[in-house]
Amino acid sequence: MNYDALCKEIGEGLEKLNYIYSMFSYASVLLKERLDGVNWAGFYRVNGDKLSLSAYSGKPACEEIKFGRGVCGKCAETKEVQRVDNVHEFKGHIACDSASNSEIVLPVFMNGKFYAVLDIDSTEFSRFTEEDEKGLKEIVKIIEKEIEAALNY
Ligand code: SME
Repeated sequence: MNYDALCKEIGEGLEKLNYIYSMFSYASVLLKERLDGVNWAGFYRVNGDKLSLSAYSGKPACEEIKFGRGVCGKCAETKEVQRVDNVHEFKGHIACDSASNSEIVLPVFMNGKFYAVLDIDSTEFSRFTEEDEKGLKEIVKIIEKEIEAALNY
């Protein structure tokens, strides 16, 4: 995957948008469209001690996830990227789409405060490599920069 090109595309798209939800929506659609084998891409927003579903592209997903539960909850608890090669072996994994086999979840910060997670699922096992993790961290940096400049929080 050419992440430099994807960063450019996502940055240019986000720059035209004013609202965080619109930005999350655009990023979800673009990531699912551009990344091979991806069946779900979207955001959960921090809401107290739980995550609440925000914009996404893919099958309907569970609306709330407590910190510590599943892959997203683990990311929320640790504030660290979770890259899971086989979700069926991940204790507490929440299966929203039974076709998902691997997953990556990245924390999103706004002005230094934990704000959301970006969750991406794939039907392929071990879909997300170290290179993907690096590239997606760059994508998240762009998203963070744009949401910090957004009209509404
Ligand atoms: N699998 C996630 C739940 C969200 S869906 O994949 C969209 C998890 O275990 O946290």
